[in-house]
Amino acid sequence: MKKQESGTTPKLSTKTNNDSQNPLLELFTSGIRDLYWAENHLVKSLPKMISAATDPKLKKTIESHLVETQGHVRRIEQIFTLLNEKPIAKKCDAMEGLTKEGEGMVEETEQGTVARDMGIILASQKVEHYEIASYNGLFKLAEQLGLNEVGALLAETLSEEKLADEKLADLADKEIDYKIADKA
Ligand SMILES: [Fe+2]
Ligand SMILES: [Fe+2]
Repeated sequence: MKKQESGTTPKLSTKTNNDSQNPLLELFTSGIRDLYWAENHLVKSLPKMISAATDPKLKKTIESHLVETQGHVRRIEQIFTLLNEKPIAKKCDAMEGLTKEGEGMVEETEQGTVARDMGIILASQKVEHYEIASYNGLFKLAEQLGLNEVGALLAETLSEEKLADEKLADLADKEIDYKIADKA
């Protein structure tokens, strides 16, 4: 948010939408728009990770999270409706960077290797942690704003992100065991 210098009273404050009257709600709505972009971007990015992965369990985990992610997009659309806002996406630079990192992992590793699968898991867990932090923060903001229905939708997605992260962590443990066993 821009700070106004003294003596330069903004004339733009004739705007009458709710956002401009409640900075916390403005912050919240901006976060929702950011997540809307992020989740839509993941719907496009996850199929690349599915086809790059080798381990069938890893493929399946990402496939089922892709279906959940499509649900996350729909939940955010429900949130826009509850907020009386149009579904507008605001580019999320963090998610763009995180998915680029995942694609970089694929480029740097060979098809069919444990290294590639591990790279995909590591990159995917960073994505989940970003989502967990975002949903957790927005859930708390929703509570402060008294947006209970919105908060319940955020909590549902938050628990799916946490579970996805746990599944990936389990797979990482198994992949590491596999690598050690392979070397023995
Ligand atoms: Fe998500
Ligand atoms: Fe996720």
